[in-house]
Order: sequence, then C-alpha cells, then structure tokens
Amino acid sequence: MKATAKAHPNIALVKYWGKRNERLILPHQSSLSVTLGPLAVTTTVEFEAARGDDEVSINGKVAQGGERERVVALLQLVRREAKARGLGAPGRARMTSAGDFPAAAGLASSAAAFAALAVAARAAAGLKRDVKTESTLARQGSGSACRSIEGGFVRWNKGTRADGRDSYGEQLFDAAHWPELRLLVGMVSREEKEVKSRDGMRGTVKTSPYYPAWAKDADLEVKRIVPFIKRRDLEAVGEVAERNAWRMHATAFAANPPLCYLKPETLSVIQACAQLRKQGVGVWFTLDAGPNPVLLTSQRDEAAVAKVLTAHGASEIVRCHPGGDAQLIGSPASVGR
Ligand code: DP6
Repeated sequence: MKATAKAHPNIALVKYWGKRNERLILPHQSSLSVTLGPLAVTTTVEFEAARGDDEVSINGKVAQGGERERVVALLQLVRREAKARGLGAPGRARMTSAGDFPAAAGLASSAAAFAALAVAARAAAGLKRDVKTESTLARQGSGSACRSIEGGFVRWNKGTRADGRDSYGEQLFDAAHWPELRLLVGMVSREEKEVKSRDGMRGTVKTSPYYPAWAKDADLEVKRIVPFIKRRDLEAVGEVAERNAWRMHATAFAANPPLCYLKPETLSVIQACAQLRKQGVGVWFTLDAGPNPVLLTSQRDEAAVAKVLTAHGASEIVRCHPGGDAQLIGSPASVGR
C-alpha cells in the first residue's frame, strides 16, 4: 500500500485564470501548457489499514491548515474511488512530498505536487494507472495540476459537465516533438506573492469588467496556438504566449482592488526581450501570477537570453525544456491512456 511518483511542473502558454466552480475547480476557459523538465516533485503515499488522521509532510515540514486540508481532501477522493472499485477503503495515509526547485520561483509547484500526489495515492490504493482519471483528480487539488500528468504539450479541456468529468488535461504532442525548445525562468524576485493565484483569479472573475472578454479570447487562443506548436513555429507560439500573458494581466489589473503581479524588474526583462528580438534573437516572454518572467527561446539562442536575464536583475535562472509524463518510481512505467 505504498507508492512513489514524480511529476514535473508546467508553464501555460495560454493561461487558466478563473473558475466556474470553486469546489470542483472547473475553469471558465480551456488552457494549454508545456510540461517542464528537468524540475520535478517526488511524492510518496503509504496507506495503512487502520483509520486515523493523515500525516502530511511537504518539503520536510509537517503541513498545516489549508495546505494540509487540500492534500487530505484529495486522499479522501482516492479512498472513495478505491471503495467504489471494490478494493476496500484504505485507512490513514502517510504522505511526504519534496520538490527540487524553489516554490517561490513562481512556477506552479502545486501543479507538480498535486500531479505526483494523484499518481502516487491512486497507485498506493491499488488502482491501475489511468491518465484521464489522474488528471481529473489532480485538478481537484490545483487546477493547473491536471496539465502535469502528461508530458510535452497539454491542453486542459474546460469541459461543460457540472460534475467536471470532461475537464482534464490531454496531451497533444509529447516532449520529443520539440526538444530544442527552451524555457528560462528569470528569478527577479524570491518574495512570496501577496495575492495567491486562487484569490487573485476569484477577485478577477468577480470584479474585472474585462473577464468575459478574457475567457472568450483565451478559448480562441488555445485553438490558434495548436497548429503553431505542431509546426514548431517559435515566433508564432511566442506571439500568442506573450499576448495571452498581457491579456491575463490586463484583466487582473482591472479587478477591484486591482491586481498587479509585475515588479519593475519584470518590465525591464520584458523590454529587454523586445530589444533582443530586434537583434535577431528568437525570444518571447510569458508570466504567471508572479513577478518572474519565463522566456521562450531555442537551444540556439539560450546563452544570449540567459545573459540578458542576468543583466536585468535575475539573481538565478532556471533552465527548462519540455518534460515527460508523471511516473511511478520503482514500478513498471505502464501508462494507461
Ligand atoms: C497563472 O492552478 O495554481 O499559473 O486551481 O486555484 O489551485 P488553483 O490555481 P492554480 O493557478 C494557476 C494560474 C496560472 C496560469 C496557469 O497555470 O494556467
């Protein structure tokens, strides 16, 4: 009754920003991301037969409050599934999870964490691997986690059902489709952001007059970007990613109270990126709900881009490339699709 799984974070090229159902974590629009190697979160879940309180440890610390509750809620869903499939409900769980990248990097570490948890917990309960079920489960821990079950380029289909069964991540192209793509996270700030994504998107949905336009446009952008990824057209992909990031942030700026995740260094990197492009370097930015820009470039231009990031205040650069599927460690790597 014990299993360990590893999953990568992801960076959205067309963002998810806003829920239509807060409890089930169902989005208003579809989104699309790249799974990021080599960064990963590794999670072990062990179920005992006896009942009792779950033990949750994250990055070496006992988890408390909301952080613990989100894990416990996901474990509860796994028990329910195991019982429904006649495997008997597992008892108390011991869960440990550790990431190999800074949580404050602004990369959704919760995406990798809940993806690894979903895969490990189901396996520990004796359930067979099934990426759609894992994705649907991971989504209920953190929305973007549904895009970290599979590697490469993953679309989160928003779905229309009230129960959320059609709202999950679907791999469109695997990591081998575009191995020379590079994603460089420039760490311009290590402070924890003031407003978490969950609260920021809630405020935006409720109060930004631009929200309906955002949701409609994002769905169209998901459709537009797929053929560009298919033909590995960095310029076309970069242009969609940049304008979608601007539009997400513009929608958040217009919330009441306004939400601004950018720092002066963020803007300076963005401007430097535009300058570099004029000099023939293929580089575009995207930005999640935090100050650290992620630059899209190619293996060829990686060194030039890293240099500019450092020159514009990045204290550290996390270099990523398209990563693979979430995997069980120490078990046959069979993935049910
Ligand atoms: C800006 O998935 O962290 O990174 O569903 O509330 O847990 P919850 O939010 P989360 O939000 C991610 C928002 C984003 C964009 C994205 O990854 O698509």
